[in-house]
Amino acid sequence: MKRSFIIVGTKATASPSFSLIDLAGTSGRLDVLLRCLRSALLVSHGVRRDAVAYLVLLGGELAPRVLRVRGAEVRFLRPDERSLATLAQKALTRADTSVGRGVFADIRPGIAVASGGIETALADANGAALYVLEEDTAPDLRDEPLGHEHAAFVVGDHFGFDDATRDALARAGARPICLGPVSIHADDCVSVVSNELDRRTS
Ligand SMILES: C[S@@+](CC[C@H](N)C(=O)[O-])C[C@H]1O[C@@H](n2cnc3c(N)ncnc32)[C@H](O)[C@@H]1O
Repeated sequence: MKRSFIIVGTKATASPSFSLIDLAGTSGRLDVLLRCLRSALLVSHGVRRDAVAYLVLLGGELAPRVLRVRGAEVRFLRPDERSLATLAQKALTRADTSVGRGVFADIRPGIAVASGGIETALADANGAALYVLEEDTAPDLRDEPLGHEHAAFVVGDHFGFDDATRDALARAGARPICLGPVSIHADDCVSVVSNELDRRTS
C-alpha cells in the first residue's frame, strides 16, 4: 500500500534563511517536520519506496510552500537532522519562485517544491484515502480497515491545525483518526501509523 504523510508546520519556515547551528530556534520548528520526514521515509538501512512526505511550510516570507520527498526516487537521504536540514535549505534555495502556485518543480530526483499550502499537497495526493490525525475522540486507527491502495495521513505540529487547514481538510473529506489516549510527538505519530501499515501489509 502506498502511503503519504502530509505534515503541517504552522510556523515552519518556507524560506531557506535559517541557521543549521540553531535549527529549532531559527526555523519556526522546521526540525519537527524534518523528524517526521525521517520517520516517513527511512527505515534501518533503507528508504521506504512506497512512501511520500509533504512538508507544508506556513511560516516565513516565502510561505506557503510545500516540500515533497518521494521515497520511490530519492537518493542519498540520510537520517540525521543536520543532513535533512541541509537538504531542505538547498531545496528551498533552488526552488524557482516564478513557477505557478500548486506546481511542483523538481530540485533533484525525488525532491520537489511547490508554492501553495495544504491544498497543494492534497491535490498532489489526489485519489488517496485521506485521514487526519486527531487527538481525543476520533475513531481508533486500529479499528480502521485501511484496505486502500493509497492512504494519506495529515499530521499537525506542536500547535495542532489552524482554521484554514481544518477547513481545507473538511472540504477534502478527511476522516479523523486517533492513535490512542496520549498526545504524542508528530514524528512518533508517523512511526506508529507506518508500523500499523507494515503489520497489515507485510
Ligand atoms: C503534539 S501534537 C499537537 C499538540 C497541540 N498542542 C494541539 O493542541 O493540537 C501534534 C500532532 O500530532 C498528532 N497527534 C498527537 N498525538 C496524537 C494521538 N494520540 N492521536 C492522533 N493524533 C495525534 C495530531 O495530528 C497533532 O496535531
